[in-house]
Amino acid sequence: MHSMATSPFSAATAPVLDVRQVVAGYVKGLPIVTGASLHVGAGEVVSILGPNGAGKSTLMKAIAGLVQCESGSIGLRGRSLMGLQADQIMQAGLGFVPQTGNVFTTLTIHENLRVGGHLLRHDLAQRLERAYAMFPALAPKRRDKARTLSGGQRQMLAVARALMTNPSVLMLDEPSAGLAPLMVEEVFERLHALAREGVSVLMVEQNAKAALRHSDRAYILVEGRNHLEGPSAQLLQDAAVGAAFLGTRQRRGPA
Ligand SMILES: Nc1ncnc2c1ncn2[C@@H]1O[C@H](COP(=O)(O)OP(=O)(O)OP(=O)(O)O)[C@@H](O)[C@H]1O
Ligand SMILES: [Mg+2]
Repeated sequence: MHSMATSPFSAATAPVLDVRQVVAGYVKGLPIVTGASLHVGAGEVVSILGPNGAGKSTLMKAIAGLVQCESGSIGLRGRSLMGLQADQIMQAGLGFVPQTGNVFTTLTIHENLRVGGHLLRHDLAQRLERAYAMFPALAPKRRDKARTLSGGQRQMLAVARALMTNPSVLMLDEPSAGLAPLMVEEVFERLHALAREGVSVLMVEQNAKAALRHSDRAYILVEGRNHLEGPSAQLLQDAAVGAAFLGTRQRRGPA
């Protein structure tokens, strides 16, 4: 894994993930994502914010190869992902923690991790040990069913599972949804630590203020396309952003 001491993206650094003018949806000719562009640099934590129904989850599914792109381009470490199947995209180095159903509740913690890592045949034992070292709370529960975990532990398992393929970029759809405030902080701190270790992070969040406090840059998506973007600290202080996106919106429960 590569490591990077500083996060700010500079034009001199090629993005790890480069998404340009993506148009995608569930029915051909009726796009939900209508021209979205973003990039994630090495060691960065990047947020995607926006109102309900803006197409944030659909954009992530398009990047992960779960929804077909009608046009645009997606590159990962300089390689085009266009036309690849979801499992090939995972093998190319993209990890995805979806909004719902991100762990198998009827399987044990250990089985969940093994399933997450099955695409890479080598070093499975080593990758399992690394997962438990990274998320020590999971280790004593390795033989328990995932449904017995708390919401926060389940989210940790989902992240650990996605990391089993050694991704360069980890995408998470609403990682803090339904978690108690302390757990929210812990999840975001974990994501920061991952970025420092060289796994770039792209997350969709409803919890906009917390996401801006815990990311380097952010994109605000409205009606399927880029509305605003910039350094998170700057967006956090922007009065227009505050009024439209940070002030009055309610946090939702688990999806
Ligand atoms: N599987 C699907 N089939 C058809 N339409 C869908 C599907 N999933 C989502 N949509 C539609 O796509 C639009 C955008 O949904 P999406 O889930 O991408 O929004 P979002 O920005 O993630 O919203 P939220 O903040 O509520 O999670 C919505 O109008 C939704 O009804
Ligand atoms: Mg969503």
